Amino acid sequence: MSGPVVTAEPGELRARLESWRREGLRVGFVPTMGNLHAGHLDLVRAAAARTDRVVVSIFVNPLQFGPGEDFASYPRTLAEDLERLAGEHCDLVFAPGEETMYPHGRDGTTRVEVPGLSGILCGASRPGHFSGVATVVSKLFNLVQPHLATFGEKDFQQLAVIRRMAIELCFPVEILGVPTRREADGLAMSSRNRYLGPEERATAPALYATLQAVAQGLAAGRRDFVALQQAGMDNIRSAGLGPEYLEIRRRDGLERPEPGDRQLVVLAAARLGRARLIDNLVVEF
Ligand code: PAJ
Repeated sequence: MSGPVVTAEPGELRARLESWRREGLRVGFVPTMGNLHAGHLDLVRAAAARTDRVVVSIFVNPLQFGPGEDFASYPRTLAEDLERLAGEHCDLVFAPGEETMYPHGRDGTTRVEVPGLSGILCGASRPGHFSGVATVVSKLFNLVQPHLATFGEKDFQQLAVIRRMAIELCFPVEILGVPTRREADGLAMSSRNRYLGPEERATAPALYATLQAVAQGLAAGRRDFVALQQAGMDNIRSAGLGPEYLEIRRRDGLERPEPGDRQLVVLAAARLGRARLIDNLVVEF
């Protein structure tokens, strides 16, 4: 199978998009940082099922990494990524250089802020992270101008930030959330799982198992949210992970829940060796 067209040039990207639009074709878009796994491919398939042409971007975005985080060591595997995409319905890969995305440098670049949602949960321990995400995704939306864009529910807070940003900045794009792809033992697929040694890898599924236990408590009618959260944190710690947070929130706006709420999500982040793992589970009644 012949692979997708690959370009680093916004001019070439625009020219191809314009010709598709002239033909009346609908464009789907999947932003990624590369090192593609089956979860990313689910996003490509979800976009392909709903649109006529699919663009995938691959860009390790420096703006969303904090000092001391893994920007330098983040896996960059473009050749393998392109091979994987050759087996999918992907028409174009946009893999820009940093100078294309940040022509005046990273520091002091124009930024997009989504207050409130960006400061809680992962945003509390990663200041500036969601602003980095919102900024790069805005720029990519302006470049690609997709009809639809797919994002993983694995990064549940990121999906919420993007949905709000798209509404508030009037991007004419439909945002589609795609369910989390997991390994057989429940661990959510992630490019960062490769940081885990064999023992850590064996420990890692405890994160999802804990989310399931908390979800079962909620499904059984428990509404003592604080006690459930504390028990979840203890569970993660005794499994050998370093819990950062485990919180029960409202599914849609991620506010703290009230006992009568019927659409909840349990979200957690934990450290394991070099890796920081995140996961979540939606609970609806
Ligand atoms: P990245 O981590 O490469 O993820 C790209 C997309 O794949 C995101 O929407 C993410 O939620 C989704 N994804 C990752 N693991 C998944 C899994 N196991 N199942 C389903 N979907 C999964 O997220 C980013 O890149 C960046 O922040 C980005 C949005 C590209 C902005 O730089």
